[in-house]
Amino acid sequence: MDKLLIRGGRQLRGEVPVSGAKNAALPELCAALLTDEPVVLHNVPHLQDVATMLVLIRHMGVSIARDAADDCTVRIAAGALHLPEAPYELVKTMRASVLALGPLLARFGRAKVSLPGGCAIGSRPVDQHIKGLKAMGAEIVVEHGYMIASLPEGRTRLKGGRITTDMVTVTGTENLLMAATLAEGETILENAAQEPEIVDLAEMLIKMGAKIEGHGTACIRIRGVERLHGCEHAVVADRIEAGTFLCAVAATGGDAFVRHAREEHLGAVIDKLRDAGVEIEARRDGIQVTSPGAANLTAQSFRTTEYPGFPTDMQAQFMALNVVAQGPSTVAETIFENRFMHVSELLRLGAKIRTTDAREAVIEGLGTNGATTEHLSGATVMATDLRASASLVIAGLVASGETLVDRIYHLDRGYDCMEGKLRGLGADVERIQ
Ligand code: UD1
Repeated sequence: MDKLLIRGGRQLRGEVPVSGAKNAALPELCAALLTDEPVVLHNVPHLQDVATMLVLIRHMGVSIARDAADDCTVRIAAGALHLPEAPYELVKTMRASVLALGPLLARFGRAKVSLPGGCAIGSRPVDQHIKGLKAMGAEIVVEHGYMIASLPEGRTRLKGGRITTDMVTVTGTENLLMAATLAEGETILENAAQEPEIVDLAEMLIKMGAKIEGHGTACIRIRGVERLHGCEHAVVADRIEAGTFLCAVAATGGDAFVRHAREEHLGAVIDKLRDAGVEIEARRDGIQVTSPGAANLTAQSFRTTEYPGFPTDMQAQFMALNVVAQGPSTVAETIFENRFMHVSELLRLGAKIRTTDAREAVIEGLGTNGATTEHLSGATVMATDLRASASLVIAGLVASGETLVDRIYHLDRGYDCMEGKLRGLGADVERIQ
């Protein structure tokens, strides 16, 4: 199992490019299942989750080719798709596989997709996906761990309707949005998620001939069409990867240009960074971040909420920054029930954090009046999930001595060449196999 060895204490400086967004690429690969014509996706990041999704759709009979000249370009041709099924072996390693359900059902009138099961950060059910597809006329039974979906006798298409999910769900909104593009009549998705990845998916679907309005708001209106065609689309830049680099530069007291980062997608995070004392300047095609050093920053309290609120996917990384900044802060996690697993690992590095309950952490920043009186010190820590790993990497970059982050396959699920990019910024980071 790969590990990351970090020798901390270097300020990050220079320029780092942000890759395409994991959470946009995954639904967009599934959107390619909606048509029998080829789809070309550009800016597809090199991530384990993307590789898993490609294996999954190839398993269905879809042909996939990476462009020889640009390996971030993937050509997907789902014309020969003959097996609308997602087996447990693949779904269990990546929950986002459930995104195949809506497109398969919409195009073929049937689908068999494994239930994802639990994951480290919470129970994460998919009841809203099922409820929404049923409201569109699908019959879905759960048998032997699989969701088996079909259309009633005599029907060949899903039918539109008004769907209000019980909570805001990102992949739930995406699944229903994709399904609705080929449904008969109009679908209105209320309480829809508003994340930039949903807007990017909707824009891709519109290029394929879908009729969509209101994406980026809580109410999306879709007029179903009989068929969609191929398209060419570039995956939006990953705002979470960008936010992770902003926090890493801030924590190390560095100065860097985060290329492709988009200020409008990172509003809540940037507000907190500015309030902390970090200088953030939006430029053409990126963000310049300049930090006076963690001990000169003021720790910031925040609570995670749906977009445009503070993203749960940035909670762990910002907490690492709070650990080395000045003063107390409170971090509340409202989206997932068990997303503080990085806390016990940060404690091993010398952080002062106490969790008041499963969803609230109180941090005593180590910075005091511009000087760090107490330091994080390197240790061996264990990555437990994707963003928790990123938080440990940030802490390791600041800690004195060597930090060994174990189980970085979590990191590889969602960060495209993290160690290479950090090295480009001057960090002393090495992958150990
Ligand atoms: C997506 C992101 C993930 C991010 C999360 C929240 C992808 C591939 N993943 O995950 O990185 O952390 O949004 O921003 O885009 N829920 C239900 N029933 C459902 C669906 C969701 O109870 O049917 C609950 C979940 O347990 C959770 C909350 O709703 O508590 C939000 O989850 P959701 O937005 O669906 O997260 P994902 O789409 O899985």
